[in-house]
Amino acid sequence: MHHITHLKCVLCGATYSPAEVQYVCPKHGNEGILDVQYDYDVISTTLSREDLAANNERSIWRYTPLLPVELESEVPPLQVGWTPLYYSPGLAKMLGLRHLWVKDEGRQPTASLKDRASAIAIVKAQEAGAEIITTASTGNAAAALSGLCASLGRPNVIFVPANAPEAKVAQLLVFGSTVLLVEGSYDDAFELCIEVSHEFGWYNRNTGYNPYMTEGKKTAIFEIYEQLEWQAPTCIFVPVGDGCIIGGIHKGLKDLLALGWIETMPRLIGVQAAGSAALFDAWKRGIDAAEIKPIQPHTIADSIAAGLPRDRLKAMRAVMETGGIFMTVTDEEILQAIPGMARGCGVFAEPAGAASFAGLVRAAHSGLVTPDERIVVLATGSGLKNIRATMRAVGKPRRIQPCLSAVKAALR
Ligand SMILES: Cc1ncc(COP(=O)(O)O)c(C=O)c1O
Ligand SMILES: [Zn+2]
Repeated sequence: MHHITHLKCVLCGATYSPAEVQYVCPKHGNEGILDVQYDYDVISTTLSREDLAANNERSIWRYTPLLPVELESEVPPLQVGWTPLYYSPGLAKMLGLRHLWVKDEGRQPTASLKDRASAIAIVKAQEAGAEIITTASTGNAAAALSGLCASLGRPNVIFVPANAPEAKVAQLLVFGSTVLLVEGSYDDAFELCIEVSHEFGWYNRNTGYNPYMTEGKKTAIFEIYEQLEWQAPTCIFVPVGDGCIIGGIHKGLKDLLALGWIETMPRLIGVQAAGSAALFDAWKRGIDAAEIKPIQPHTIADSIAAGLPRDRLKAMRAVMETGGIFMTVTDEEILQAIPGMARGCGVFAEPAGAASFAGLVRAAHSGLVTPDERIVVLATGSGLKNIRATMRAVGKPRRIQPCLSAVKAALR
């Protein structure tokens, strides 16, 4: 049993039963991303804020009635979710702010927020009776699928761009995935993966294609509200590549609103890299998300390099319907944000994960946020995922001879 009523096309509004359609709206092909709709009346009879407060399950499965899975399904044993939300007054003060929290998604089992979505993919694949699961990814979604599959001994095939950071590729190999490095961009890997999954009947986890990934990512906002003891934040900074995370955060907020657990939504601030800013450009120029044309992305933040953001419709709605904005940050600002956040609150994020903080720095300096706001920054992935980029920001340590006088000289 699950509480899904239907799947709804974000383009045309057509509705389908989950048994009828697996991935996208048949009328719109890969553009017709589906949104999962639930029976909130039934859910509210089985789940309340008080029930959650009394629940000791410290993972995304504390929200199972709000997830698109059968309540009885087997879930991966790795602990996904319930990552720390750190109150960071020191970091706030540096920016002239008072109330700032950092959600450390580097603490997920494979060290990025993508574990939330891949966990759902594996359960859905099992429910569909599929043996092999596949995904295209800039790296993290793949690492998440890879690690979680390993925890259940499930075979999987991964398509990542050949220039994916080494640490992410190492994760794929160590977990025993079949890894195919695609000589092309993430967008090329994405198309190839869909073609291959049709050809072989594999279960496809692709972001902005598989409708259930949004549902996993939304658990981050459920946790944020619980961790803030339902004292609402005023705005949330989210790094944006395909736009699935920000769409997921928005979806979680819509769930909470439908359940009557919150009354208003915080502004969602979508932060893109200046060299990969298709959504920002469309938003600024008033162009409909459905009309976005692909660009050639160039950014050091590999996880948010997306020429054609796959979840662009959900991402645009997330910003528009919450009174938020899109903004861009340069690679230089992203690189500065990595040690900035690490030194200010002890959370070390990869470039994409620090882009949200870079966005906050810019927003604070330009008055886009006010000192009294309650601000959450999503640090979406661990800094250990991309050491090469980080080393560009922090330089090299001093080498010394192993003697006291060398230490004295070095410290002088
Ligand atoms: C660490 C990290 N941050 C941000 C993103 C961007 O998420 P989305 O592509 O859903 O916008 C990703 C996606 O790979 C990621 O891995
Ligand atoms: Zn449609």
